[in-house]
Amino acid sequence: MLDINSIRAQFPALSQNINNEPLVYLDSAATTQKPQVVIDAITQYYSAQNANVHRGSHSLTAHATSQFEAARDNVARFIGAQSSKSIIWTRGATEALNLIAQTYARNTLNVGDEILISEMEHHANIVPWQIVAEQTGATIVKVPMTQNGEFDLAAFHQLLTSNTKIVALAHITNVTGCRQPIEEVIQAAHDKGSIVVVDGAQGIVHEKVDVTSIDADFYVFSGHKLYAPTGIGALYGKLDLLEAMPPWHGGGKMVEKVSFSGTTFSGLPGKFEAGTPNVAGAIALSCAIDWYENLDRNAVEEHIHKLQHKTYQALSAIEDIRVLGYQSNASVLSIVMDGVHHQDLATLLDQQGIAVRAGHHCAHPLMEAFGVKGTVRISFGVYNTEEDVDRLIAAIEKAVDML
Ligand code: ALA
Repeated sequence: MLDINSIRAQFPALSQNINNEPLVYLDSAATTQKPQVVIDAITQYYSAQNANVHRGSHSLTAHATSQFEAARDNVARFIGAQSSKSIIWTRGATEALNLIAQTYARNTLNVGDEILISEMEHHANIVPWQIVAEQTGATIVKVPMTQNGEFDLAAFHQLLTSNTKIVALAHITNVTGCRQPIEEVIQAAHDKGSIVVVDGAQGIVHEKVDVTSIDADFYVFSGHKLYAPTGIGALYGKLDLLEAMPPWHGGGKMVEKVSFSGTTFSGLPGKFEAGTPNVAGAIALSCAIDWYENLDRNAVEEHIHKLQHKTYQALSAIEDIRVLGYQSNASVLSIVMDGVHHQDLATLLDQQGIAVRAGHHCAHPLMEAFGVKGTVRISFGVYNTEEDVDRLIAAIEKAVDML
């Protein structure tokens, strides 16, 4: 049994007033708030341990390097990777997807090759592929969603051919919280000789991930949706793929020897980590993982699903509100209010201290498929309570009367 009140008390940002009302934070799919232990890890690092890593020989740098590498080991363990060398630090999921596109894909794609992308993807899992398709002559193929707002597996199986070289899809989508069938997609793609890139930005938070057992070729995620800071994320790749990939950014630490007659590059993972990395971020991400794993994750998901379902039931009873692509057992809900701009609704909620996200959620193709310009998205974290839901519903009912 989770003690939500004591979990909530660990998040200092949640105890403030916004617009003279106690904050109700329902935007965790954009970024989660941070527990005190993670904030302390950052302060502690900069207060006592700050040094550059893998450089120099003094005690501080040795200590920072060992913490930084222990954080990498922890990420590898957390996602079931067999080697820490297969974990590359990035600024987040977006940078990781761009890295894969500009190294693996740019190096292997040819004219006529196809990249299959689900219609429900975030722009971060569309645009890097469009850029590399333009560079290589490859073609993007859209996998549609079903009428229920789910990944269309039947269409996928038809679209998957020997021309398919990459399949890119989110583990869990950011607008509706749809859990896509990554296991079946990976197996079918491998049978046709394609690799699969999984955007785990939302999925890593809501499911225990084992990249080895699902046989993902690449799996990427950001720290900041996982109760860790912004500016840090991880790319997992199979070792043979990473080893064959050329480097991306050039600079310090990713080289073995530089001379004007040629440069030799470091092995994994340094080859992809040019420049001074976000050491504090990596350590804080590792701390967030430990903090999160200390909770009963099944109970966390049960709690979140309960809040999402309660919200769904209450909103379904309001005539002017439509829930788009509702997914049961999810952590988000996207709604539109007939005749009212999503931004107006979000502003009205904000005036009552309720933080939600309004807009296209970096998913223009999905908005187009739904036939809307944008939605109001309500997303839940471990710290939300039934009282948050009650305040949201009351505020939406008030908005329906006012707008
Ligand atoms: N990708 C983040 C979201 O869905 C920013 O809100």
